[in-house]
Amino acid sequence: MTTTLITGANKGLGFETARRLVAAGHTVYIGSRDAERGRLAAERLGARTVLIDVTDDTSVAAAAKAVEADGGLDVLINNAGIEERSPDGGVLGPEEESADMMRRLFDTNVFGVVRVTLAFLPLLRRSAAPVVVNLSSGLGSMTRVTTPGTPTWGYPGLIYPASKTAVNMITVQYAKAFPGIRINAVEPGYTRTDLNANTGTQTVEEGAEIIVRMAQVGPDGPTGGYFDVNGPLPW
Ligand SMILES: NC(=O)c1ccc[n+]([C@@H]2O[C@H](COP(=O)([O-])OP(=O)(O)OC[C@H]3O[C@@H](n4cnc5c(N)ncnc54)[C@H](OP(=O)(O)O)[C@@H]3O)[C@@H](O)[C@H]2O)c1
Repeated sequence: MTTTLITGANKGLGFETARRLVAAGHTVYIGSRDAERGRLAAERLGARTVLIDVTDDTSVAAAAKAVEADGGLDVLINNAGIEERSPDGGVLGPEEESADMMRRLFDTNVFGVVRVTLAFLPLLRRSAAPVVVNLSSGLGSMTRVTTPGTPTWGYPGLIYPASKTAVNMITVQYAKAFPGIRINAVEPGYTRTDLNANTGTQTVEEGAEIIVRMAQVGPDGPTGGYFDVNGPLPW
């Protein structure tokens, strides 16, 4: 029996991933920073729920303790993420994005990944086939951002792409440091969720495909990679 925790799984890609992994037979924890939203989502899926705010050390430590007490963890999906948008849902440009905004966004998208991974590392090390999936983005690809003519090149924002490039680096360095764990970054594709004011062109079913796939890699599967649904991506 595989036990999986997905942070920020009360809605969006995390929720759809939880739905699919429950169907695949995983015992799934819906990580939610709001107890009621987590409870309602878990109830809909026949999943468990755990309260976890990825920006809060105490909350993350308590979540790790609760999951450990319930039997441990095999798969961690670092999914919780945010993107700064203007009140009308538009993407902000570099002049509108301050250092304070960057600190706030990095606390969730980047420091959250470090905080949660380190807290759950002792549990993952006790698993026979531990896996970590980090939610990156195509916007984290330095190659794509510097290739004129691609949609990624045309994205004007600063902080969100920088956060996902950092997630890619964290993925690579963790994969080297923890060779017993399969650790990969994934790009779900531009998916209609609250994150982008529902402007995405894909459904959550399409977006969750690569997350679900990388959550199920075996001990011989890839590690330290960056994938979308069609295969490896350029860094
Ligand atoms: N949608 C896309 O096109 C796209 C593309 C590439 C990558 N991604 C990545 O995919 C991941 C999921 O995004 P999504 O599109 O599904 O967005 P979403 O629908 O807005 O869901 C984001 C989830 O993260 C949770 N969250 C935010 N801050 C948190 C915190 N401090 N602690 C715990 N949970 C927190 C949210 O909880 P609340 O409900 O409490 O706010 C929500 O459950 C993100 O990492 C995002 O960057 C998305």
